[in-house]
Amino acid sequence: MRSHFCGELNESNVDEDVILCGWIHRRRDHGGVIFLDLRDREGMAQVVYDPDVKESFKIAEGVRNEFVVEVKGRVRLRPSGTINHEMSTGRVEVLGNELKVLNASETPPIQLDEHAEVGEDIRLRYRYIDLRRPEMAARLRFRSKVGNIIRNFLDNNGFLDIETPLLTRATPEGARDYLVPSRTHQGKFFALPQSPQLFKQILMASGMDRYYQIAKCFRDEDLRADRQPEFTQIDVETSFMDEDQIMAIMEAMIKHTFKKTLNVDLGDFPRITYAEAMRLYGSDKPDLRIDLKLVDIADLMKSAEFKVFSGPANDEDSRVVALRVPGGASLTRKVIDDLTEFVGVYGARGLAWIKVNDLNSGSEGLQSPIIKFLDQEIIRNLLSTLVVETGDIIFFGADKSKIVNEAMGALRIKVAQELNLVVSGWAPVWVVDFPMFDLTPEGGLTSLHHPFTAPSLDAEELTNDPIKALSRAYDMVLNGTELGGGSIRIHDSKLQRAVFDVLGISEAEAEEKFGFLLDALSLGCPPHGGIAFGFDRLIMLMTDSHSIRDVIAFPKTQSASCPLTDAPGHVSPNQLRELSIRHRDQNKPPNG
Ligand code: AMO
Ligand code: AMP
Repeated sequence: MRSHFCGELNESNVDEDVILCGWIHRRRDHGGVIFLDLRDREGMAQVVYDPDVKESFKIAEGVRNEFVVEVKGRVRLRPSGTINHEMSTGRVEVLGNELKVLNASETPPIQLDEHAEVGEDIRLRYRYIDLRRPEMAARLRFRSKVGNIIRNFLDNNGFLDIETPLLTRATPEGARDYLVPSRTHQGKFFALPQSPQLFKQILMASGMDRYYQIAKCFRDEDLRADRQPEFTQIDVETSFMDEDQIMAIMEAMIKHTFKKTLNVDLGDFPRITYAEAMRLYGSDKPDLRIDLKLVDIADLMKSAEFKVFSGPANDEDSRVVALRVPGGASLTRKVIDDLTEFVGVYGARGLAWIKVNDLNSGSEGLQSPIIKFLDQEIIRNLLSTLVVETGDIIFFGADKSKIVNEAMGALRIKVAQELNLVVSGWAPVWVVDFPMFDLTPEGGLTSLHHPFTAPSLDAEELTNDPIKALSRAYDMVLNGTELGGGSIRIHDSKLQRAVFDVLGISEAEAEEKFGFLLDALSLGCPPHGGIAFGFDRLIMLMTDSHSIRDVIAFPKTQSASCPLTDAPGHVSPNQLRELSIRHRDQNKPPNG
């Protein structure tokens, strides 16, 4: 039907006869002349109808926003003064001589020609209209392009694209499973994969050597801006490579992708250990665009009279930290109160601070609710340890380490945003040397990554002091977002059993749930490892979007539903009967 995309036209097309197909973005009637902004996936073109093309002019008078039309006409330069520098096609226009309505549209529930603030529910309910917006189309085009670049990169490096099942058994990645009842095995359930983790390991046991898949994963967990119940991973596994080799090739892949799409040179990624990241940034996904660090001051506060500090300073499981923020003395009382409330969400019981209004006037130059509790010597030591300057504010966190890390780590980012201290650009970093295990609230142990991650010591050492054990895991972090995570895996069934044991998984349970993996490990499994990147997160960051919902064609809402199809939905009593499922609230009407 068409000869060109709307968004493709430029001065080189002047005097060409063209056929365009697209949607009416806007119609302007300039008394005698009608201007149509015609939109398609690639952009927008201005089409003009003069009254002398009688029939077409009449049709042009009748078209409305979102009508789908076919335009025939000739490209010409716009008269000077009417050039639109905002549009890539803004130097030209099409003088229309024919116009055909391919399909009319009712008045759309979302206006596309203005920046109307539309609720997300409406946007998702009418997603096909929302996706017509140029910025949404651009994001999906970009996503498709990045997917291709990554596929090509992996293909060129000998990775095989292999699909793994969606109807499978639970894969423990720390979230709840989405379950699918089996009709042929009454009372039994498939789980949708939280990741292809076990299958990709089995593929290594199968001798595939290098695997990748752009894979759908399903996790029933609390949603946030960077989490969806159904999301996409760039999933990779390799045999006979150690962590340095895997990190090198994956770093090359991400660098290549940034160069080819955004023309950005990311440079070599620094590495930081988990312990160092927690110590300096209170987070295992530090945003290195922010040049603020936590400083441990427990040594200074051990003998302080101020119990808020000296208590945690003398407790092994606690931290006392200071965060010096240049320019922070300008923060108002109100802002500081808000920040205090903000850290409260993470369990902090307060937020002590000192403003350095004038460094040269001794204690006169300091302003703080806590200096009255601290003696001069401690304050002097503190100021010199932190190398403070006039205009700084120092914030303090003192509590159990977990609370301090979470609260002060989040404060670091919040304050940096408040004071415009986040430098623009890209700050990738590898985080390495994660602990193997984390303590559960009940006092048990849980895997920090997943139970198939190899420890950096042997089975005996692991069993003797599990909480000290480090793993061979690595995360790629970009601008404070965890982009990907992976590890060298356990390829020895004895070590795998030992890890299950430490995790409190009985032999019988291990056999029942992971017997097939244990068998594979004991039947000639090569050393192997891999990683998975959040594809949606990658695209979100690269397109500077606020949420991964903006880079997914059909995302779920915050409450994990789809307003477009109204999923999840009720099913017929017959379907349930076939599955031997009875709803507990059976007396409630299905739509009640
Ligand atoms: P992990 O659970 O760290 O590792 O997931 C890998 C990456 O997937 C992305 N991600 C998500 N993106 C959107 N919504 C979610 N709900 C969500 N959950 C995770 C993140 C994360 O870094 N099998 C292992 C990988 C491996 O060891 O190879 C795994 O799934 O960007
Ligand atoms: P209080 O003695 O509780 O009135 O606290 C004195 C100051 O210390 C106030 O500014 C509190 O916000 C702050 N503060 C209290 N508890 C903590 C804590 N755990 N960490 C940091 N500051 C705190």
